[in-house]
Amino acid sequence: MNPRRPRIWVAQPLFAEALAPLAAHAELIVEPVEGVRSAADMAAGLREADAAIVTIGERVDAAAIAGAGRLKLVANVGVGYDNLDLAALHAAGIVATNTPDVLTETVADFAFALLLGAARRVTEAERWLREGHWQRWSFDRLLGTDAHGATLGILGMGRIGQAIARRALGFRMPVLYHNRQALAADLEQACGARWVDFETLLRESDHLVVALPYTPATRHRIDAAALARMKPTAFLVNIARGGVVDDAALAAALAGGRLAGAALDVFEGEPAVHPGLLAAGNVVLTPHIASASLATRRAMVAMAADNVLAALGHGPSAGHPPNAITL
Ligand code: DGY
Repeated sequence: MNPRRPRIWVAQPLFAEALAPLAAHAELIVEPVEGVRSAADMAAGLREADAAIVTIGERVDAAAIAGAGRLKLVANVGVGYDNLDLAALHAAGIVATNTPDVLTETVADFAFALLLGAARRVTEAERWLREGHWQRWSFDRLLGTDAHGATLGILGMGRIGQAIARRALGFRMPVLYHNRQALAADLEQACGARWVDFETLLRESDHLVVALPYTPATRHRIDAAALARMKPTAFLVNIARGGVVDDAALAAALAGGRLAGAALDVFEGEPAVHPGLLAAGNVVLTPHIASASLATRRAMVAMAADNVLAALGHGPSAGHPPNAITL
């Protein structure tokens, strides 16, 4: 009897051309319709799978893998992996992979789009125009805040934080950053960035970009107390994960005029957005799209597929998925 072909479950209909190389080696089961996968859907999808490709919208936890006796790899299409219970996967001998690097520059571009969008009131101005308010040009309408020359603070100086800092060079922004560890001197120099403690970062940033991964330790790193220590003229940008910023505290700070504005791509409990943020005029809100350029999203899927191929023993990294996440 022929051995059964390995089975790969893909939790969302991702780019078919990027998944195509897998079909030569395995039975590919791609969910045909995009949507929210319930815990029961996850368990059913993973049950017969040898490998799975999931996005950051799918939760892979102990319950999801309880019946997945054949599962060897979960390839996350995303650099962040707080949707995966790594301890549960590890205990079950399942390797998890993510998609670092391919999205770094795209996310850094978007961080600047958000920063400028909030500081120069781009979405607020567009709403005003579309609502038909524009009767005459006015010298002092919708006055914003400059980015050039202002101090940029970056909380979390991994690859994405560094790419944001490099962009700030072109805006002649002094860059301060806070990270558990300072960068090596040559990297600091390439980014034109200076390590400061958390207090100094909060106190001196005109635009503060949050680029920290979400972990229990980083939950609400920007809370009411942190917001209170920022300049009332400052802007906060979150391109990291919902939950690193306390959205309720941010909504209160904005409503109280204790912060000039914010730009958020990620939210606690997304897709729900705190009503106080929805009500605030001085906030740019986007639906978790920082990595969503066509080329980058395609590259992320291709990278996840490469990890699966390697786990199934094919390709240049056969047996060693290149982006395995270590605990
Ligand atoms: C990531 O990769 O973690 C982004 O947040 C989603 O693409």
